[in-house]
Amino acid sequence: MKADTNVDARYKFLRDRHGEENPQANGYRLGSFFAREQRVLLSALDYKKGPFLDVACGSGLMLAPLLKEGHMVYGLDFNDDACIAAIQNGIKILRGDAFNMPLADNTIGQIVNCQFLNQQPPEQTKKFIEESARVLKPGGQLIILWRHARSMIHKTSHAVFTFMDRFTGQPPFPQYEHPMQEVQSFAEASGLEVKQKAVTLPFLKRDMICTDGLTAKTIGASLFIVLRKP
Ligand SMILES: C[S@@+](CC[C@H](N)C(=O)[O-])C[C@H]1O[C@@H](n2cnc3c(N)ncnc32)[C@H](O)[C@@H]1O
Repeated sequence: MKADTNVDARYKFLRDRHGEENPQANGYRLGSFFAREQRVLLSALDYKKGPFLDVACGSGLMLAPLLKEGHMVYGLDFNDDACIAAIQNGIKILRGDAFNMPLADNTIGQIVNCQFLNQQPPEQTKKFIEESARVLKPGGQLIILWRHARSMIHKTSHAVFTFMDRFTGQPPFPQYEHPMQEVQSFAEASGLEVKQKAVTLPFLKRDMICTDGLTAKTIGASLFIVLRKP
């Protein structure tokens, strides 16, 4: 398995700095941003359909609240340090590749994937969605959250943070945009149905709004899609 050493170095830096229980160790600039994304994600889960798998889980914080309710939660990541951190946070770990998961067909009730797509080019995004469709049980869900890289607020903050990272000598994060329509078309080509799509918001008192419209294009933070395997 080939790791992206630049990205690995970046997460190692963040984990050493913040500790594995802090979402900033997974690349979130603000804890409040992570809390909102987590709220949106948890609201879309169907709690009757396990087991749950967090693909590219980092230190596994996204689904950690489910552990308290006794759900079976797995995390998959290929980075050794991330896997160790996720185990320390109580997640059962499958070390592996999101594009070739070590899982049989039709075995997982729900897959979540957060802040991973922006590091992947379109052909890898397509492959990840096909692979998720393979391992999902019929009736299962794939829920994906990724940065709304075309929104004005995101473009501005990315430019500022990239400049600061360069200035402080930190390895940069890759940044692929992935409009909603692209992800939706990959999902439909893999036989998945779209159940819900939205944009999350950082500065209003609402967690999410519809994907079209000026507000989403201006201050939209993440794109969010819920897909169902028929
Ligand atoms: C931005 S972090 C997101 C962590 C977590 N999903 C969250 O939102 O808190 C991205 C994670 O993707 C993992 N990753 C990158 N490429 C991967 C691959 N091909 N297979 C599995 N994990 C991968 C990295 O090791 C890293 O832990």
